Amino acid sequence: MRLTTHVLGVEFQNPVLLAAGTCGFGVELIDVIDLEALGGFVTKSITLEPRTGNPAPRVTEFDSGMMNSIGLANPGLVGARDEKLPWIAANVRRAHVLVSVAGHTVDEYFALIEGLDQSDGFVGFEINLSCPNDARRDGVPFALDPDAVTEIMSGCRARTQRPLAAKLAPNDPALGKTVKRAEEAGADAITLVNTLPGLLLNPESGDARLGQGAGGVSGPALRPSGIRAVREARSNTSLPLLGVGGVLAPEDAVAYGRAGAALVQMGTATFAAPRASTDLIAGLGRWGRRHGVSAWDDLRAGTEAQAG
Ligand SMILES: Cc1cc2nc3c(=O)[nH]c(=O)nc-3n(C[C@H](O)[C@H](O)[C@H](O)COP(=O)(O)O)c2cc1C
Repeated sequence: MRLTTHVLGVEFQNPVLLAAGTCGFGVELIDVIDLEALGGFVTKSITLEPRTGNPAPRVTEFDSGMMNSIGLANPGLVGARDEKLPWIAANVRRAHVLVSVAGHTVDEYFALIEGLDQSDGFVGFEINLSCPNDARRDGVPFALDPDAVTEIMSGCRARTQRPLAAKLAPNDPALGKTVKRAEEAGADAITLVNTLPGLLLNPESGDARLGQGAGGVSGPALRPSGIRAVREARSNTSLPLLGVGGVLAPEDAVAYGRAGAALVQMGTATFAAPRASTDLIAGLGRWGRRHGVSAWDDLRAGTEAQAG
């Protein structure tokens, strides 16, 4: 199966990206995988100030996935700009990078775009509107406030020429409308989904298993929500979609493609199997040969709107 695909103005050598927050800034993985074999990766979400994150434990497993409450631990705008992005610019050529940003206020998003836009080494921004672990907003992500989506996306649009992907939430009862809001405000792509809010309790004590209490569900348990969200978005926009949530096997990526995703992202699967992303790329080629599908782009032929 031919895996190349044209999205966000560039040619991706394959549709597999590592998801935000699961691969740091790439440099953390150089001894683990060949980053240049990937379609690309999304950086950890960058906030204005450096953050140490939430109290431990910050991740916990359950039978069909994982929960995290990392709390956006990251080096902040200046640390990312001066230390992380230069490494990407000098070392990542074939894989395409999206820089993820997350604000606590609308203005923080704008300051992040302004502060990072002049850096080299990345194709565009992924605007994280959907972090469920952001205590400063009482855990309500911007993605669930349509006016905030419009304000943030249009303000980011006015500040950069680079492509913008809006990352939305799986638990949005009006997802189609939110997708349209993001598109009207200038998004070039939609990433679906971020983690789903969840809570696991220790049965003996009744205490939360994560230090922060609640957290975000990822992994196989999230896959049906992710595929549904991509399908729902597909019927509301012709923008390219980036599907994420529970991608592990080639069949999972294909399902996202069939739902309308142009690219897929993988996160949790890489914690159990660090080479899961490069295995997925090889597996997709084999899947295509076995099923007589000659190109990744052909998977979306049956969806309501094709875009790239
Ligand atoms: C440990 C961890 C940290 C994450 N950090 C971020 C982040 O900084 N920004 C973001 O947009 N999403 C973040 N996510 C969400 C992932 O990018 C992805 O949307 C989600 O995990 C679903 O994909 P998966 O099931 O393949 O892990 C994080 C997820 C995990 C598990």
